[in-house]
Amino acid sequence: MSAVIRSTGLWTPEESVSNDELVACYNAYVEHYNAEHADAIERGAVEAKNPSSSGFIEKASGIKSRYTIDKEGVLDITRMRPRAKPRANDELSLMAEAGVAAAKEALETAGRDAADVDAVICSATSMQRTYPSMAIEIQDALGIEGFGFDMTVACSSGTFGIINAVNMIETGMAKSVLVVTPEITTPQLNFRDRDSHFIFGDVAVAMLIEHEDVAGGQGWKIIGRNLMTKFSNNIRSNFGFLNASEEPAPAFEDRYFVQEGRKVFKEVCPMVAEMILSDMGNFGLKPDQMKRLWLHQANINMNMMVAKKVFGRDFTEDEAPVILDEFANTAGAGSLVAFHRHHDGFEAGEKGLICSFGAGYSAGTVFVEKL
Ligand SMILES: CC(C)(COP(=O)(O)OP(=O)(O)OC[C@H]1O[C@@H](n2cnc3c(N)ncnc32)[C@H](O)[C@@H]1OP(=O)(O)O)[C@@H](O)C(=O)NCCC(=O)NCCS
Repeated sequence: MSAVIRSTGLWTPEESVSNDELVACYNAYVEHYNAEHADAIERGAVEAKNPSSSGFIEKASGIKSRYTIDKEGVLDITRMRPRAKPRANDELSLMAEAGVAAAKEALETAGRDAADVDAVICSATSMQRTYPSMAIEIQDALGIEGFGFDMTVACSSGTFGIINAVNMIETGMAKSVLVVTPEITTPQLNFRDRDSHFIFGDVAVAMLIEHEDVAGGQGWKIIGRNLMTKFSNNIRSNFGFLNASEEPAPAFEDRYFVQEGRKVFKEVCPMVAEMILSDMGNFGLKPDQMKRLWLHQANINMNMMVAKKVFGRDFTEDEAPVILDEFANTAGAGSLVAFHRHHDGFEAGEKGLICSFGAGYSAGTVFVEKL
């Protein structure tokens, strides 16, 4: 294989919301809701809502805070949704702006500029619009020639994006590809749903993937990769272009992210651990050769379970770093953000794995070796 992760870049919104802030807002909403429906609750016609708790959130998920594009809107109990100011067609759109910032950092880190890049892949859970594609807008904003396209594979968007870039490099279609994963997820979340109101955070991450011949011995060689999907309704969003045509129109709440978290947990952990071990076998790799696993960041307990199955022993925080405390679940960006933040301390020849998993179900493995 001849592709290399040459560099990475990250963008975060300026504002972050702590569990305590989020829970205070949710509980104020619940108090208001229960008071408003007191008679119906008394008659048994409406179910009272239960309060949320920071302790539960941290223990059940590992999340302590999340970045958001608009803290005020999220914490306004009459709204509980981030505000996004509409932009004119000649302004850079929000998602492209986030992607461009992350991409610029990746280019700067590698000492590259637009002329060095042949293609842009924008791979994320949802796109701000369908066309013109976000990738083409990002490509234009950066001044890159060549081509760009969007793709979505939910929480595996990042790894599927990398693997598409690797395929293009191996077939000779491109020598250098920017994979950009802007995940603006807080607008996709129902902040009035106790089961999920704490889950997501906003971020953008970018990776510059280069042919080994141009990488100059720098970066992380990709030594194995694999993709997997298996249909499941346990994580779902029914948001889509047909919503406006549907009769009766779906309630706004029905267009948000929903999940059966416990089922996801139970089904996805063994599926992913099995995939990683089988991929390692196919690529001639052994668990004890893995210095670090940069796993998808949805839930700390899921990561502990997957990492323990893969290593076959207890492991240190350094061997499976977690970024959930600061970022929460950033969907397709999570494992790439973990890599971006925690790739120091590797000697040439040492190996690791970037692995995503989530809705679809979908999972992607990218095995790397430090050059
Ligand atoms: C969502 C998730 C954190 C919930 O954790 P969990 O341990 O499964 O919690 P459960 O949903 O089983 O709920 C346990 C209890 O906590 C309660 N609870 C749920 N949300 C709560 C909240 N915000 N505050 C306080 N209690 C809460 C439940 O009502 C339940 O109470 P009960 O036992 O009396 O019925 C966890 O299931 C998860 O992360 N799953 C994987 C999700 C995933 O990877 N998704 C991918 C998305 S891209």
